[in-house]
Amino acid sequence: MMALSSPLQNLSAVISATANATTTAARPPRGRHWEVHSAASNTSAAAPVQFGGYEEGKLERPKWAGETPLSRLVQALISFKPLYSVLKLGARRVFISTAEKNNIPWRQMAKEVLESEVYREMDSIQNQSLVYPDYYLNPFHAYEEGNLTWLAAAEAEAATMSMVRRALPNASSLEEATQILRGNWLHAIEQHHIQYSESSVVNDILDIGCSVGISTKYLADKFPTAKVTGLDLSPYFLAVAQHKEKRAMPRKIPVRWIHANGEDTGLPSKSFDLVSLAFVLHECPTRVILNLVREAFRLLRPGGTLALTDFSLKSKVLQELSPVLFTLIKSTEPFLDEYYLTDMDETLREAGFVNITSILTDPKHVTITATVPQ
Ligand SMILES: C[S@@+](CC[C@H](N)C(=O)[O-])C[C@H]1O[C@@H](n2cnc3c(N)ncnc32)[C@H](O)[C@@H]1O
Repeated sequence: MMALSSPLQNLSAVISATANATTTAARPPRGRHWEVHSAASNTSAAAPVQFGGYEEGKLERPKWAGETPLSRLVQALISFKPLYSVLKLGARRVFISTAEKNNIPWRQMAKEVLESEVYREMDSIQNQSLVYPDYYLNPFHAYEEGNLTWLAAAEAEAATMSMVRRALPNASSLEEATQILRGNWLHAIEQHHIQYSESSVVNDILDIGCSVGISTKYLADKFPTAKVTGLDLSPYFLAVAQHKEKRAMPRKIPVRWIHANGEDTGLPSKSFDLVSLAFVLHECPTRVILNLVREAFRLLRPGGTLALTDFSLKSKVLQELSPVLFTLIKSTEPFLDEYYLTDMDETLREAGFVNITSILTDPKHVTITATVPQ
């Protein structure tokens, strides 16, 4: 824990150094998994030439996750309130400065949202009678009120862009990183659905944990004839999603936004062909992960596809993360250990899913697809 003994001022440098150090390991052999169609300026069309094959580490999961001595040490450090406060503040500063160094104008983007008319969307989005689950009321991502603030909602797009850039530090630009991360994810979903669903048609899509609608937009672009629903627990995020969608190119079939709990959506059974949970599960305790998977099973039609994408336990890059970085990440992600200890294959099997398929769709993230039996 060498770097923890020195204060947080060097974190930014460590992040850049780590990104570079992991690049060699992260980058698949040239000409294989790295390429995307050059014409595919729109990620929805960016089916990769080949994908998968990102390097796996030797461990079952990173040493800093789960029930290891290292993980317990990090947890003890984070539980020490004064250090936690410094870490949280440091984490926020580092996230912003790293993003801005990567040409993601974090503060400018947030300012534009906060100074817009986004607030007008709240009335039409918010379900006043929704009761938030306890875990959702924790401080989160260095926001004292978690996802339930305008600031978190205004910063979500820049934070997402930054996550994509950090996952693929060797990509030539943010656009290329996005094409790879989102393109490979969409490709994995499409391939799974074509292979295992008898009709292979996707008429209805539910994006659970849609945040400010970025994953929802990619799904809607990829499947333009489908009715797409974005669902989230944060009315602030949904307001930003709706605000942005209203200002984008109109779609033939507008996206529907729903403020609800993905564990118990209240939506009719067997009403979707595709349910997506993109980058949601690492933010949830194990019991919530189980509920989300069971609810997805209920909502899917026979032959329907569930698509999960999130941190990979096997990712070599994540297994080799520097102590500073994983301590930083853990200080803002209260349920990361629970996620890392959840056996996703087993969870999906127990819920009734078949054809469970996992693939590293970028150096850090796995996409797991599964089918509801016909
Ligand atoms: C990292 S964001 C998802 C990002 C987005 N899917 C994407 O790919 O860009 C995780 C989201 O999950 C939402 N979330 C967490 N628990 C949820 C639940 N039980 N039901 C619905 N949404 C939930 C959070 O509010 C947050 O917006």
